[in-house]
Amino acid sequence: MNEKKEKPKYGWYVKKLIITCIILGLFGISLFVLSFLFGNWVRFFFIIVGIVVVLFFLWPGFGMALMNIIITKNLKKQKEIEMPMVQESPKILDIGCGTGRTAIKIAKDLKNGGYLYGIDVYNKVAIGGNSLETVKQNARIEGVQDKTSFGYGSALDIPFEDETFNVVNLSSVLHELHIKNEISKALEEAYRVLKPGGWLIVGEWNKFSWQLICYCGVFCFVFKDHNFWREIIEQQGFGIKAQLNNGGFYLFSAQKPKN
Ligand SMILES: C[S@@+](CC[C@H](N)C(=O)[O-])C[C@H]1O[C@@H](n2cnc3c(N)ncnc32)[C@H](O)[C@@H]1O
Repeated sequence: MNEKKEKPKYGWYVKKLIITCIILGLFGISLFVLSFLFGNWVRFFFIIVGIVVVLFFLWPGFGMALMNIIITKNLKKQKEIEMPMVQESPKILDIGCGTGRTAIKIAKDLKNGGYLYGIDVYNKVAIGGNSLETVKQNARIEGVQDKTSFGYGSALDIPFEDETFNVVNLSSVLHELHIKNEISKALEEAYRVLKPGGWLIVGEWNKFSWQLICYCGVFCFVFKDHNFWREIIEQQGFGIKAQLNNGGFYLFSAQKPKN
C-alpha cells in the first residue's frame, strides 16, 4: 500500500494579515481600472487612493507571502542558525518556539547528546496554526521527540531555575514585545536562566535592510534596526561575540560572563 508520509506543519507567519492585505490590495487595483470610466477629478481621486492601497496593502501582502516561501526554503537548506560550539550535552531553551520552525532545526542539528526545551505563550496570532499541539506533533514527525520538550511559558517570566541552560535562543520573538522595558525584561530573564559562560542567540529583522523593505514595504518601520538589538543585548551584561547578516535577518550570538 502507498502510505502518505506525514509532513510537519510550520504554518505561515502573519497568515491572516497577508490574506487581508492581498484582498484590500486587489480592491486598490480595481480602483485603477475603474478610474478610466470617470472624468478628471474622480479619475485622479481613484488613482491616488489606488496607489495608497497598493503601497500599504498589495505590496506588503505579496512581499510577506514571498518572505514565508524564502524562510521555508532557507530552513530546508538548514543554514539558518549557527549555534555556538557547546562541548557536552548542551541544555538549550528556545523562547517563543511557535510551531518549532527554529527549535526543531536546532534539535535536529544536536549531535552531542543535548536537549532542547521550547516555551511559548501561544496567545498571539503570529503564525497560522500556532499551538502546543502543533509543535509537539512536528517534533514527532521530524523524529526529535526524544531530545525535546515543549510547554507554555513567557519570555517575561521564564519557568526555569537560575543558571539552567547552556544556550538560550530567541528567534524572531523580541520584536513582538514592542515595549523597550519588556524587551529588557526578557533579556534579563534569559541572562538569569543561563549558566555562567552560556550563550544567547537573538535573531531579528533589520528595519532598513532592502530585503525587509521588499517584504513589508512601508511596514518595515514596525521593526528595529540592528544597532538597537546590539545595544540592548549589551545593556543586559552580555558580551556580543558575533553578528551575522543573513539576508536582512540579523543573528547575534552573545555570551554571559564566566563569573
Ligand atoms: C514570529 S513567531 C517566531 C516563532 C519561532 N521562534 C520561529 O522561529 O519560527 C513569534 C513567537 O513568539 C511568541 N511570543 C510572543 N510573545 C511571547 C512571550 N512574551 N513569551 C513567549 N513567547 C512569545 C509568539 O506566540 C510566537 O509563537
